[in-house]
Amino acid sequence: MNRFPEGFLWGGATAANQIEGGYDQGGKGLSVSDVYTFDSSLPKEQWTDQWHMMTHAQVKEAMNPQSTKYYPKRHGNDFYHHFREDIRLFAEMGFKCYRMSIAWTRIFPNGDETQPNEAGLKFYDEVFDECLKYGIEPMVSLSHYEMPLYLATEYGGWPNRKLIDFYLNFATTVFERYKEKVTYWLTFNEINCVKHHPYVSIGVVEENHLNIEQAKYQGAHHQFVASALATKACHEINPEAKVGCMISYQLLIPYSCDPDDVQKTVESQRTSLFFSDVQARGYYPAYTKRMLEEKGVTLQVERGDEEIMREYPVDFVSFSYYMSSAVSAHPEKLEGAVGNLITGGIKNPYLPSSDWGWQIDPKGLRIALNQLYDRYQKPLFIAENGLGAVDVVKEDGTIDDAYRIEYLKLHIEQMKEAIHDGVELFGYTPWGCIDIVSASTSQMSKRYGFIYVDQDDEGHGTKERHKKKSFDWYKQVIASNGETL
Ligand code: BG6
Repeated sequence: MNRFPEGFLWGGATAANQIEGGYDQGGKGLSVSDVYTFDSSLPKEQWTDQWHMMTHAQVKEAMNPQSTKYYPKRHGNDFYHHFREDIRLFAEMGFKCYRMSIAWTRIFPNGDETQPNEAGLKFYDEVFDECLKYGIEPMVSLSHYEMPLYLATEYGGWPNRKLIDFYLNFATTVFERYKEKVTYWLTFNEINCVKHHPYVSIGVVEENHLNIEQAKYQGAHHQFVASALATKACHEINPEAKVGCMISYQLLIPYSCDPDDVQKTVESQRTSLFFSDVQARGYYPAYTKRMLEEKGVTLQVERGDEEIMREYPVDFVSFSYYMSSAVSAHPEKLEGAVGNLITGGIKNPYLPSSDWGWQIDPKGLRIALNQLYDRYQKPLFIAENGLGAVDVVKEDGTIDDAYRIEYLKLHIEQMKEAIHDGVELFGYTPWGCIDIVSASTSQMSKRYGFIYVDQDDEGHGTKERHKKKSFDWYKQVIASNGETL
């Protein structure tokens, strides 16, 4: 088949902490993302520093009500007050699916309460009802870089086993509440990214740990158990529901055919695949022992954990795909090619880069889809993909984002190739379908949307929504089920 299957879930994706705002409304508590600042006076190179390494001092300052800093993720693009208008625009584009997250802190403000916050539950009832009114299927991430701040400061985050119960309480509450409205769930967004940014992923401040690797993998182990238990609970509550894992998949390519580069690539790729291996297959892969030994990690695995993981793997595998990266065993010899990507990868001379140094590799998406399908034989879903760019509003009010159309077109063509290869792909939700705050830089001006939001990096602007050129383009892509690109 070289066409998109009938019922393919075309749509778009966002996350609560980057879109909602209303951080102090409806009884919401602070999340770990509410701690990130944006300060345009700092050099550009420092904008992602806190994303990779949050410090105690920064957390403490953010918790001080007198802090004068700007915290963009507390404000998002104000979807909290604009969701009806935004979902109407998604419907106008013909969305079949909207991937979003529930802010854990709207339901359990601190995370350790036993009773949920009704105002938070009611908000998502309204959001889901609005989607369903237009026939838009919600796909919901339970945890997208927004665990309650309290669980980080008071419990030390996911390395603490108690987090499993708190998460399950949250998960079962929302599974019960929305069982008639939501069929697709994702347990943890980009679960493998704990290796790059442990603070937003597992609530861990690096300074606290002598061996940060130990904290990361212990936290991940608890997330694996929590994910398996949530999958079990979800199926019990709604046998029709489908639960997926979600990894960030940056395709890695050997910089050269030097066997050392090839070996390093295999090992580096495994540091991501490890997470989907566990969640999709239900057990720790054979390479785990050596990998953890070399990191000096000794996992505390309790009796029954491995049985739980084995019995309740996910139903499907979802992933984000933005770029590929080259890998070299001898980066010191590659002057000028190192560290140009967010994850410090090696520059591939064959590929162009975005303004943020993310290397654009549509053909890599076809390879990624084939690799993941060969490995798991489970349905795949592209939960994120897109181009972060600076968009300019012309004098006549139009926004010509032809570069974004080109990026998406090239990726959709490769999805089609992968389907032709035999890959079972059931949906595609480009990231930031409406402009939102960037996860890594906290900028508003790193835009991904089909819909422009009039707001700058410091939160100034009318917040009015405007269609970009890509809006009508994507509308016809969906209407033609991917035939007219
Ligand atoms: C993914 C995240 O890593 O990439 C999103 O799941 C994020 O939350 C997206 O926004 C794009 O990254 P950025 O840093 O450009 O916002």
